[in-house]
Amino acid sequence: MLEQNKAVKLNRIELIPADQLQPGQRLLVEVDGIEIAVTNVDGKWYAFRNSCPHQGVSLVFGAITGTMMPSQPQEYQYGCDNELIRCPLHGWEFHMKTGKSMFQPDKVSILTYEAAEEEGTVVLYMKRLPKKVEIKRQVCFGQSNIL
Ligand code: FES
Repeated sequence: MLEQNKAVKLNRIELIPADQLQPGQRLLVEVDGIEIAVTNVDGKWYAFRNSCPHQGVSLVFGAITGTMMPSQPQEYQYGCDNELIRCPLHGWEFHMKTGKSMFQPDKVSILTYEAAEEEGTVVLYMKRLPKKVEIKRQVCFGQSNIL
């Protein structure tokens, strides 16, 4: 279940069969006591720490969305479609790949991890070799739903 990739020094952790996490679905796993959310967004895989840096709310229940980008007055430019997770409590938005917040990208962020579907299995890559990996629950709802 656990392998070490020496080239990039990441540990490969097999989670669940990929057919159990369809596009639009999310998975919550606990790795050595740390909750990590894994999302399948139309075949793009993201994994991030399941805790908002503002007040610790579970991000796995947030909307996956895009946002209005910086632009000139009278211009409205939508971007990052389905690349952001929005905190369900106060709406802070984080890029699921980089973890950076949209409002203060250099100061506020969440930890992100590499995730992928490989040979029919959802895998997570982490720098440290975990002692315990637990599948906590599968959260299933659409990418643009707000709870
Ligand atoms: S708890 Fe996430 S934005 Fe406030």
